[in-house]
Amino acid sequence: MEFSIKSIPFLGADAEGLLLFSFEGGPSNQLKEIDKSLGGRIGRAFKRGEFKGKEREVYSLSLWGEARYERIILAGLGQESRFNKDKVRMASALGVKEARRFKLSYLAIAPMGFGGCGHEETLQLMVEGCLLGTYRFDRLKTKGGEDGDVKGCVFITETDIDMGVMRQGIERGIAIAESVNHVRDLINSPGNIITPKALAREAKRIARGSQLTCKVLNLDDIKRLGMNAFLSVAKGSAEPGCIIIMEYRGVGGREKPVVLAGKAVTFDSGGISIKPSKNMEQMKYDMAGGGAVIGVIEALARLKLPVNVVGIIPATENLPGGRATKPGDVVKSMSGKTIEIISTDAEGRMILADALSYALRYKPRVIIDLATLTGACVVALGRHAIGMMGNNRKYLDMIREAGEASGERVWELPIWEEYEDLIKSDVADMKNVGDRSAGTIVGAIFLKHFVEDTPWVHLDIAGTAWADKESAYQPKGATGVGVRLLIEFLEHLIEDE
Ligand code: BES
Ligand code: ZN
Ligand code: ZN
Repeated sequence: MEFSIKSIPFLGADAEGLLLFSFEGGPSNQLKEIDKSLGGRIGRAFKRGEFKGKEREVYSLSLWGEARYERIILAGLGQESRFNKDKVRMASALGVKEARRFKLSYLAIAPMGFGGCGHEETLQLMVEGCLLGTYRFDRLKTKGGEDGDVKGCVFITETDIDMGVMRQGIERGIAIAESVNHVRDLINSPGNIITPKALAREAKRIARGSQLTCKVLNLDDIKRLGMNAFLSVAKGSAEPGCIIIMEYRGVGGREKPVVLAGKAVTFDSGGISIKPSKNMEQMKYDMAGGGAVIGVIEALARLKLPVNVVGIIPATENLPGGRATKPGDVVKSMSGKTIEIISTDAEGRMILADALSYALRYKPRVIIDLATLTGACVVALGRHAIGMMGNNRKYLDMIREAGEASGERVWELPIWEEYEDLIKSDVADMKNVGDRSAGTIVGAIFLKHFVEDTPWVHLDIAGTAWADKESAYQPKGATGVGVRLLIEFLEHLIEDE
């Protein structure tokens, strides 16, 4: 989808449809003005109650050759007093999907002013909504989908607005949304296509031609480093595991990096502690944490943010087999700490343990890990909140604020000392699972042993990485959660320090 800006009359663009926005209540002055050339049809739609401007409401009217456009699409923003930025993404996504339903190839969009949201940001949000909302994973279908694609959107503006600034908003929206959509592609791709090796190849492809570096630790390197927690998972599989390391240097010198660690289990069968087969196919999304880290790094390179970030992505399958880890096995992790493996299905924390130890080599200012770590997180928070735990108040608060601003919201759970008892082992320094209680917290309690005193935030995205049903800018399947959240966080970090 191409985006452009033009300073022309609202009814003068070379497009088949015009998308307009409205709060609940009645037409704005802008809409009234446009309505003058439409014979009052928008006003009548309001009067008859055919369109109210409610959140998630879309309404379209056919113009039958009365004007240049075939169709006017109205997208609701809800009550003005309850406005937030996410509603711009939602309304834009629903508006452009309506255009797609009517097979319009080119759409004019009349952005309006929103409280507390400048022109640059408004356009960014609209572009994000359009690109995220029309995302489809259809590359494995041999025949195309039902409806065509909207090929281009032209934003129409009044003359006195700085076009350069607007263009920047569009570019930022494209960089972020395309990165999110790449992550969605990686996650939606099944385990036979996105193997650890294929994921590493993708990471290298993204790094090529940009200021990113990407190196991949193979099984020999991993053995040499003593990463036996990672190996305990990887050894059950015929596909070799690897650890992908991507570096983005946005500021030179010795500024300490932010390290992002992302769980990338390209398929989680549970291993010997095998999962029930119902919905097991969904476990291709167990690499969503690693996918998000790759997406953040891609977005950083495109946005050229002045910050140093290292991404560490332990990638492996988790399968049963003659060489697989057995419940009761004990391994010595890279940190030197020994772990009794009670469940081979608690594999994410095993591979992250060694990834976190490796992260300490960078002397990071903060480590943030993302992982589809526990089914308990889906039970506790459902699909609308990321579970957040960590050891540093400042960074926890910053991530929470970034969650509110980006629409990828987090909810904090405690990791009090008392929970430590749950992972005491009779034979090793710790075991990898507790009893049935506090499953999400126990995951974090386990990981905490591997970050020493480094500020650290753990994000459990088991619920938020996957959508069971379509919503405004979120098709069914992989969400790409984490990219918008962390870009927002990093931007604040840059402003702060
Ligand atoms: N990948 C799963 C967690 C998961 C479950 C993510 C459902 C998304 C949806 C993880 O590796 C796992 O199996 N965790 C176990 C932990 C348990 C053995 C302590 C779980 O949640 O059952
Ligand atoms: Zn598992
Ligand atoms: Zn898993």
